[in-house]
Amino acid sequence: QTDVTQLLLSRIRDVVDYPVPGVMFKDITPLLADPAAFAALTETLADLCVRHGATKIVGLEARGFILGAPAALRAGLGFIPVRKAGKLPGATLKQSYDLEYGSAEIEVHAEDLAAGDRVMVIDDVLATGGTAAASLDLIRRSGAEVAGVAVLMELGFLDGRRKLEGALNGAPLEALITV
Ligand code: PRP
Ligand code: MG
Repeated sequence: QTDVTQLLLSRIRDVVDYPVPGVMFKDITPLLADPAAFAALTETLADLCVRHGATKIVGLEARGFILGAPAALRAGLGFIPVRKAGKLPGATLKQSYDLEYGSAEIEVHAEDLAAGDRVMVIDDVLATGGTAAASLDLIRRSGAEVAGVAVLMELGFLDGRRKLEGALNGAPLEALITV
């Protein structure tokens, strides 16, 4: 483990039985409240985006906005929000995906992504991989290319990496921490 990984890990709080019994919630608010840890995270994510040749950064609402926006600024790249359905005023591309119970929908402004763009997706957690997979489908439908997915934390026991394999189609999944 690197010093940065250790610092990040030390600022993530485990919350037992949240939001429902049996689930261990990974709370990143202590990390966000620590400017040294937040800066180290931002720097690491920005480096990954540059290394993988991204030209744009997509953040996934809501926690992916908090991590993706400063990384985009730091990397000198545009930030594109992928929002939960019904929040964007312009023409959008929409993608639905399955949740444990029911389904959800995300969307992006159609004008924000096009052929020639290389997009890195940033989020806090990869759990089942459903959210990230849907975002990759959106990006490909826009004509843009996928540079990869970068998350602070991968919950290895949920096998999201495998679920994402098809959607990644060879693009990298970078997880700073795997638990
Ligand atoms: C959480 C988390 C990831 C997603 C991971 O977001 O921030 O975006 O779930 O789950 P998955 O891999 O199983 O799709 P959530 O929609 O719960 O809430 P948020 O708006 O706080 O980010
Ligand atoms: Mg989220």
